[in-house]
Amino acid sequence: MTQNYDIKDLELAEKGRYRMQWAAKEMPVLDLIEERFRQEQPLRGLRMAACLHVTAETANLMRVLQAGGAEVALSASNPLSTQDDVAAALVAYYEMPVYAIKGENNETYYKHLNAVLDIKPHMTMDDGCDLVSTLHKTRTELLPGILGGTEETTTGVIRLRAMAAEGALKFPVMAVNDAMTKHLFDNRYGTGQSTIDGIIRATNVLLAGKNFVVAGYGWCSRGIASRARGMGANVIVTEIQPLSALEAVMDGFRVMPMREAAVVGDIFCSATGDIHVFDKSHFEVMKDGAILANSGHFNVEVNIPALEGMSSEVRRVREFLDEYHLEDGRKLYLIGEGRLVNLAAAEGHPSAVMDMSFANQALAAEFIVSHREQLQNKVYTVPVEIDQEIARLKLNAMGIRIDTLTVEQQEYLNSWQEGT
Ligand SMILES: NC(=O)c1ccc[n+]([C@@H]2O[C@H](COP(=O)([O-])OP(=O)(O)OC[C@H]3O[C@@H](n4cnc5c(N)ncnc54)[C@H](O)[C@@H]3O)[C@@H](O)[C@H]2O)c1
Repeated sequence: MTQNYDIKDLELAEKGRYRMQWAAKEMPVLDLIEERFRQEQPLRGLRMAACLHVTAETANLMRVLQAGGAEVALSASNPLSTQDDVAAALVAYYEMPVYAIKGENNETYYKHLNAVLDIKPHMTMDDGCDLVSTLHKTRTELLPGILGGTEETTTGVIRLRAMAAEGALKFPVMAVNDAMTKHLFDNRYGTGQSTIDGIIRATNVLLAGKNFVVAGYGWCSRGIASRARGMGANVIVTEIQPLSALEAVMDGFRVMPMREAAVVGDIFCSATGDIHVFDKSHFEVMKDGAILANSGHFNVEVNIPALEGMSSEVRRVREFLDEYHLEDGRKLYLIGEGRLVNLAAAEGHPSAVMDMSFANQALAAEFIVSHREQLQNKVYTVPVEIDQEIARLKLNAMGIRIDTLTVEQQEYLNSWQEGT
């Protein structure tokens, strides 16, 4: 890489800019933050290394960070999630070093992560913790220069907490995923809608009347379950936690072990953050024609090596759909190489939810800068004041007003004397 970017095709820039502008219409909270950042320059002089899904919404966040005075370099947080036109727009119109090509192999993926680290960042902005773990494993010379970082997703936060517990984490990180205005909306409604979108774009299959098996009943998976039900599917949920399983039952879903669901399912989708949720023993009993997808962060939820091992032939039958010919004659179908189906086969979350997720990212970055003296090498949640402020701004932007407590109500809620 002699130039300071590595993207598919710079000619795609105009298309990418239109896509960014379209997304921005649904991102009013980020817009307000951009206006303030432009005036106050809270990130002035900071170099930021970002590793996020390179989508139109991410591009708008990158614009906001630049407006706040930061110098930003961006790489993809998944080999299949890049929108090549958006990557081109950031290079062409914002002179941003972007290293991301949809379909890049693992070697290029890590080469790109290292390229954004070459700017010698003061801050990291990560999605899945690959950037931060690369820094801690192979680029340790950069660690003393880092003030802190932010993390976008559940799997990344889990990895960071494991690092912090071992005393391995060398700078503070804000867990953006844990903000209510992130996971309540992005993970649930964003993943719910865009996962269904990805499955449909990849297969054009009718969901109505199908047995749709959702692995997990966490924030993402409950969104997927409710949206699949909305399309008329018979949804079955599998879980490993009694509480979540009980919630799924009371929400009206059938709950059973995966070994039983595997026999009856037509479409399978996981979003657990766990490994081999769909495994060899499940493939052995699945119906001919069953479709598999994953919306969890890494491509380990479907045991792809086992599936390959059981197959005599694999062929690509549609753009994001691979057909596995099992030796017993059945065919199973895997969408998007088992990677995040909503980003691999669709466009990721709708902008309206990313507005809140990325407002959290921008404000968390500002928080790190302004609190850098106090923060330790730990994982921090986004302060509740930031969460509430984002919710307030979002409601305002949607034109929705709510009530405020009267003095009488405030006194009542603060007192303990009044009872029956
Ligand atoms: N596709 C996307 O755009 C997107 C968006 C946000 C998060 N994610 C990723 O999705 C995954 C889930 O995130 P979340 O916020 O919903 O997490 P969560 O912790 O709220 O939910 C995960 C659920 O999966 C269950 N689970 C774990 N192992 C299981 C197994 N073997 N079988 C059945 N259930 C199992 C857990 O009990 C839990 O209820 C993570 O990897 C996260 O990073 C993806």
